[in-house]
Amino acid sequence: MKTIAVAPSVLSLDYSQFEKQCQALNDSEAEYLHFDVMDGHFVPNLTFGSDILKGFKKVCPQLIMDVHLMIEDPYSFIESFAKAGADLITFHYEAVDPAKISELIDYIHSFHIKAGISIKPKTDVSVLEQWLDQLDLVLIMSVEPGFGGQKFMCDMLDKVRFLRKQIDENDYHCLIEIDGGINHETSELAKNAGVDILVAGSYVFKGNIQENIRSLK
Ligand code: DX5
Ligand code: ZN
Repeated sequence: MKTIAVAPSVLSLDYSQFEKQCQALNDSEAEYLHFDVMDGHFVPNLTFGSDILKGFKKVCPQLIMDVHLMIEDPYSFIESFAKAGADLITFHYEAVDPAKISELIDYIHSFHIKAGISIKPKTDVSVLEQWLDQLDLVLIMSVEPGFGGQKFMCDMLDKVRFLRKQIDENDYHCLIEIDGGINHETSELAKNAGVDILVAGSYVFKGNIQENIRSLK
C-alpha cells in the first residue's frame, strides 16, 4: 500500500516553543506544513496572515507550504500568500460564486503554485466533479472548520471514496487531503478510503511530535 503524506497544522503549535517544535518537524517524516487561515467571518475564529508563513518558510525550508484559506474573500489574499512562499493554496467552495471557481483556480496557477478546493461537512462532494480535471487537490473537512481538537466525522469518508473513484477512473492528477480529528486510529480509516494527505493538528503537537507523525504513516 502506498504511504500517506502528513501535513501538521501550525494551528496547534505551541508558539512559546516555536524553534524547538519547528526543529522536531524538520526532523520528522512530515512532507507538508498546513496553515489554517481564518478571518472571523467565514469561520468564527481568527488566525494569521502571510507574514507568519514567511517565517516558517525560513525555519522549515524543505516542507511543502500548504495554505488552507477559511476566509470570505480568497481572491484578495492569494497573491500575498503566493509571494510569501505558499506551494499550494486551497480555498473554500462555499466562499466563492461557483461561476468564478474556474477563474480562481487559474489565478492560483498563474503564480506557478498548486490549487485546491475544500468543502465543509454539509456540502455534497458531487458539486466538485466539474473542476476535478483542473484541480491539484481536494480538501475534505472532517470537522466543521474553525477550531482544532474536534471529533472526526466518519461519514465524510464516503466523500473520499467518491473522489478516489472519480480521480482513478479518469486518471486525474488531483490529490485528496482530509482535515480534522485525525489521530492514529482515524488515519487508518482515511488511508483505507483513499486519502493522499492527512492534516493533523492537536494529535501531532501533544507529546512527541516526531513519534506522533510516524504513527500516522
Ligand atoms: C480546522 C482546521 C484544521 C485543524 C485540525 O478548521 O482546518 O486544519 O487544525 O485540527 P485537529 O487535527 O486538532 O482536528
Ligand atoms: Zn485546515
